[in-house]
Amino acid sequence: MERTLVLVKPDGVQRGLIGEVTSRLERRGLRLVAAKFMAVSRELAETHYAIHKGKAFYDGLILYITSAPVMAMVWEGPNAVAAVRQTMGSTRPTEAAPGSLRHDFALEMGRNLTHASDSVENGDQEVALWFKAGELISWERSNDKWIFEK
Ligand code: RTP
Ligand code: MG
Repeated sequence: MERTLVLVKPDGVQRGLIGEVTSRLERRGLRLVAAKFMAVSRELAETHYAIHKGKAFYDGLILYITSAPVMAMVWEGPNAVAAVRQTMGSTRPTEAAPGSLRHDFALEMGRNLTHASDSVENGDQEVALWFKAGELISWERSNDKWIFEK
């Protein structure tokens, strides 16, 4: 079962969209594994966004993600990485598919509401960066067999 890290970024938290993001992922059929509301340290932000170090938007990105609390979550399901990124929409909100979160709630790349892991490998790494093993809950829902084929 794939796992992916989802962040409701500071703009999403400030705008009261934690419920909207969570509700869409639940409605999609994904299963919540872990969640915590937290302030992001500069150190965590820099590790999480290490791949973007040196890019023109990097400093602004670190300021953005540390500017207010985030809601960090782990979601799982078949094809969870692709499914969650589709629910979020493209990084640039004006290119996000109609009906996606970024289409429906955002205008600018630097205020695009959410983060979602972009590959299964990065998903596993990001989950390990943001959560301790003991914070991840393995559980079964009574309706799993009506959502997951296997
Ligand atoms: P995320 O990691 O936040 O889920 O977003 P993403 O995969 O769609 O985009 P990524 O390329 O990983 O970029 C991370 C975040 O950096 C900001 N960004 N700004 N101004 C720019 O050119 C620019 N490019 C990226 C966005 O907030 C993006 O989500
Ligand atoms: Mg990314």
